[in-house]
Amino acid sequence: MKKTIAILFAGAALIGCSQRPQVTADYRVVPLPGKIEVDTADTADKYFKLDKNTVICYSGEDLAEEAQFLADYLKPLTGLDLKVSTKEPSSNYISLETDSDIANPEGYKIDVESSEIKIEGGTDAGVFYAIQTLRKAIPAAGMHDVLYPVGEIEDSPRFGYRGAHLDVSRHFFPADSVKTYIDMMALHNMNTFHWHLTDDQGWRIEIEKYPRLAEVASKRAGTVIGHYTGEFDTIPVGGYYTKDQIRDVIDYAAKRHITIIPEVDLPGHMQAALSAYPSLGCTGGPYEVWRNFGVTEEVLCAGNDSVYTFLDDVLGEVADLFPSEYIHIGGDECPKVRWENCAKCQAKIKELGLRDDKEHTAEQKLQSHVTKHVSDFLASKGKKIIGWDEILEGGLAPDATVMSWRGEAGGIKASEMGHDVIMTPNTYLYFDYYQSPDTDKQPLAIGGNLPIDKVYIYQPITENMTPEQASHIKGVQANLWTEFVPTFSHAQYMVLPRWAALADIQWMQPESRDYADFYARLGKLRNIYEAEGYNYCPLAFEDKNAGAIK
Ligand code: ACM
Ligand code: ZN
Repeated sequence: MKKTIAILFAGAALIGCSQRPQVTADYRVVPLPGKIEVDTADTADKYFKLDKNTVICYSGEDLAEEAQFLADYLKPLTGLDLKVSTKEPSSNYISLETDSDIANPEGYKIDVESSEIKIEGGTDAGVFYAIQTLRKAIPAAGMHDVLYPVGEIEDSPRFGYRGAHLDVSRHFFPADSVKTYIDMMALHNMNTFHWHLTDDQGWRIEIEKYPRLAEVASKRAGTVIGHYTGEFDTIPVGGYYTKDQIRDVIDYAAKRHITIIPEVDLPGHMQAALSAYPSLGCTGGPYEVWRNFGVTEEVLCAGNDSVYTFLDDVLGEVADLFPSEYIHIGGDECPKVRWENCAKCQAKIKELGLRDDKEHTAEQKLQSHVTKHVSDFLASKGKKIIGWDEILEGGLAPDATVMSWRGEAGGIKASEMGHDVIMTPNTYLYFDYYQSPDTDKQPLAIGGNLPIDKVYIYQPITENMTPEQASHIKGVQANLWTEFVPTFSHAQYMVLPRWAALADIQWMQPESRDYADFYARLGKLRNIYEAEGYNYCPLAFEDKNAGAIK
């Protein structure tokens, strides 16, 4: 008996020594939840304590994945390896449920009591965003328990489309890096990944009917040095995704409630494809996978029937692969000089009866004809198109969505015409631009200056839009073009922390947005970047006025 008591004492002493430190959670995260009510009564039970005995409970098979996400997210922030279960203990648990009374499918409620935290989402996606909030509320990573203040949170996003884009043509990022990008998006409550898969400098998706796209068009021999110097290195750049890899990434994203919209940029930005199939160009080539940056004159020949077959075949395989309702067909920066001088293109213009008028040239109308062809083809596969704002030139089918990149003008015009719009103006949301005027403190970028405080002031819906126009602004996206972004770690540096400003724009109601308040919330998010090992640009954290809005 004595011996047992002695052992018990030793145990208690050990427990005493291993008492873990505690940190207090703060629900003012990025993006800021719509409503936070914290119980300020000075009572002993004003916190829920997350510790090693906390159980994450869920009802319904679908939520098993969400429960595991919560456990996985909490681990690097707390050192806790929490149990996930369908059985609810009498206390010390976090429960996950869906509630169809929550109007917005991505909306959620969190009810924190001292004995449990109840999460309810409009759908699984809503539960997922509640989990992101609980995760981001932890102020720093460490081997500690977490005190969540008793209270209630209610939240839902402003926009249904919250996008981020990645150009994998100018530089290639392997599938695992793309998955990390998707994890980073989930942290910022984003739900749409725009995967720019093809361009002049490299074709990055396997197409079974055209094997030379992967074999030839995915490899370039070198790259222009610096800013358009006319000098080239001889370092090969290559890579493409197999269909199996793409399926795996689609599945990975879907689990994180992210839809992938693939882009096949046409009829311009096709020089890499032309290098593999030169008969698809107006001159017949030869063409190289472009080592230069900028806008090439070499585009698909719009007067050649086999080009339309090529587009149907490629887009058919892309449509079969990606479950997304939308396929992005590019449409930007298609110079018309080859078409003006090509007998086949000119014959097509004649055949279609296209003529210059006050607004558009016959060649712009020929691009419209190509857009209509692919739009009709994709409609036959049950898909809708999105294109860059140039697709407005020369007429466009009403159900096409326009992505406004040359500032906001294209988006405003498209919304006037009744098109749905995604706003991604280069003036605020091109994250290949510098992040501060101190260019000597940053790696070479394409140009421009887009500090986080300038990103933050962007208003996608302006006062001079009618309610009808405003209803067509479906969402907001930032783009990352990678001419000057050779590595994935550099890609992270370009988007973080500017994605944090973007997340507030995408999620929050505009009247709640305040830069100083955002800046105060940003520090906690930085700690998560650190805990997850994400590279980011530190300049935004050095001086909140570093960018000095101009
Ligand atoms: C674009 O930046 N060319 C869409
Ligand atoms: Zn032609």
